[in-house]
Amino acid sequence: MKTEQGIALVDRDEKGVVRAFRDDVLQGLDQHQKAIPARWLYDDAGSQLFEDITDLPEYYPTRSETEILDARGKEFAELIGKGRAVVEFGSGSSVKTPLLLRAINPSAYVPLDISGEFLRESAATLAKKFPDVDVFPVEADFMREVQLPDEVADLPKLGFFPGSTIGNMVPRTAVDLLRSMRATLGAEEGGRPLLLIGMDLVKDQQVLEAAYNDSRGVTGEFNLNLARRINRELEGTIPVDALRHTAPWNDDFARIEMHLEALEDFDFEVAGKRFSMRKGETIHTENSHKFTRRSANTLLLAGGWTPQARWTDSGDRFSLILAEATEKRDAP
Ligand code: AVJ
Repeated sequence: MKTEQGIALVDRDEKGVVRAFRDDVLQGLDQHQKAIPARWLYDDAGSQLFEDITDLPEYYPTRSETEILDARGKEFAELIGKGRAVVEFGSGSSVKTPLLLRAINPSAYVPLDISGEFLRESAATLAKKFPDVDVFPVEADFMREVQLPDEVADLPKLGFFPGSTIGNMVPRTAVDLLRSMRATLGAEEGGRPLLLIGMDLVKDQQVLEAAYNDSRGVTGEFNLNLARRINRELEGTIPVDALRHTAPWNDDFARIEMHLEALEDFDFEVAGKRFSMRKGETIHTENSHKFTRRSANTLLLAGGWTPQARWTDSGDRFSLILAEATEKRDAP
C-alpha cells in the first residue's frame, strides 16, 4: 500500500475560528427562515452522535444499505469489473467500504474528504485491510471538481457515494454535485466512469419521522449539538434548553427536515452579533430527501448519469443505484 497526504483546507481567523462556519451561521441566522447548512452538524461530537444514530432501532438506512452491499457483491463484481480506482466521496466508513472493495477487487482506493483527520484514519484502516489496493487519500471539498492523484489517471473509475448523503442537498445542489463528480471522475479512457450511489426511499411517514426523532433522543442530541457548537466555537449565548428538536416530513419536497424550535421568546448573541427567536420559530438545520425509483433516476439523469442497475434491501427501504456517465449527445 501507498498513501499520500494533502494540505489542510480549513481556513481559520486569528482566534482560530473556522471562517466558513462563522459566515454560514451569521448569514443563516439573519434570514427570515433561519437556516444553517447541515455540514456543520458534523464536528467530532456530531460525528460521534451520528455513529450512535446508525445503531438506533428506528434508524433503518445504514442497516438497509449494508444489507444490500453484503448481499449483492457478485452482481457488483460482474457489472463493475476488477481493477478500477474506487473514488469515495466522503471518507469510508468501517463497514460499507470494505464490503464493496471485497466484492470488486479494485486496483486503487481514493477517499476524498474535507476533514483530514477522518480521512487519514479511515485510509490507514482500509490500507491495512486491503494490502493489494493502493490507497491515495485526498483532502478536498468534493462539491467541486477534484484533481485525482496521477497514479490513478489511467485507471477506469468507480465513484462511491453511499449513505444517501445526496439526500442532504436540495435538487439544485445535488445536480451540481453529480456534475462535479462526473468532472472529477473524468476522462473516459479505460472505460466510462461509473457511480454507485445510495438513495433512501419514500415510505410511510411514521416510519420516516421515527427514524429522525428516535425514542432515546439521540437524534435530538445530534441536532442540539449544533447550537452547542455555535456556543463553543462562535462565542454564542444560545439558551440550548429553550430549544427542542423536531423532524417533520415535508411532503411537497419529499424530505425529512430537522429544525431547532424555540420553546419561548429569547435574545442571544453569536460572534458579537445580536439575534432573537420568537416562541415557535425554528432554525432549519438539515434536509434528508427521500426518493422513488423514478425521482432517483430523474435526479441522476439531470446530473449526467444514466442509471444501469438498481438494488433494494429486503424491506424495500433503501436503494443502491449503479449509473454510468452519460455520453454527450443532443438528440433524444
Ligand atoms: C448522514 C445524511 C445520511 O440524512 O439520514 C441522520 C444524517 N440526520 N439523522 C440522514 C442524519 C439525522 C443522515 N445522513
